Amino acid sequence: MEELLLAWYGRSARDLPWRRTTDPYAILVSEVMLQQTQVERVVPRYLDWLERWPTPTALAAAPAGDVIRAWQGLGYNRRALALHRAAVVVATEGWPDDLTRLPGVGPYTAAAIRNFGFGENVLPRDVNVDRVERRTGHSFTGSAAQALMDLGATVCLARIPRCEVCPLAAPCPSRGTRDEPARKQGPFEGSFRQRRSETLRLVATAAAPRAELDGEAVDALARDGLVAVAADGTVSLP
Ligand code: ADE
Repeated sequence: MEELLLAWYGRSARDLPWRRTTDPYAILVSEVMLQQTQVERVVPRYLDWLERWPTPTALAAAPAGDVIRAWQGLGYNRRALALHRAAVVVATEGWPDDLTRLPGVGPYTAAAIRNFGFGENVLPRDVNVDRVERRTGHSFTGSAAQALMDLGATVCLARIPRCEVCPLAAPCPSRGTRDEPARKQGPFEGSFRQRRSETLRLVATAAAPRAELDGEAVDALARDGLVAVAADGTVSLP
């Protein structure tokens, strides 16, 4: 199973800047940014950040206000402060053996730094990695970490897995099955879900221009493959 995955990764790895470094500080910055923000939005911010503050010492010396301002748009500003405080710890005491002692670093981020930064064979488990392991019934090693992240983010999707392009489809016992929607919905999510379902209902009745619909709902539906948006902006069922 793992060889199939690694061969696929060799062919289709996403070229992400934090994959070109083993500097634990750069890995820390990338993983904290990636905790709640999408990869495409993180890439330019990660590059700017490392140019401005290339080392823990540089970041530790920055005023917190500068750090918060530099984080604008990434969301969850508390992560900026945690990263700043983590840089202070590393700059003054070095990297702790237990990385979860660093502010903002939980078991997942600690495992990612140990693997990508310190070359240890540990597997950072996030929801994507968990899903692939659960569906395939396979336990992967740390060598498969980046490949699993790509597979979970682009192929083994939670609601509409793309088994037809999956390198693990042949041996996968879950091939062709979807997960039940299981998440408990908060109030915002409930209302957004309502907007989505209303939009889908309109589109299902008749194709319509995106400009006449709830654009955010259209985008969310399109990401999930529930609607298609034509080049001229017409939204229809796929
Ligand atoms: N999400 C969290 N960590 C990631 C990484 N290292 N590469 C891609 N996506 C990620």
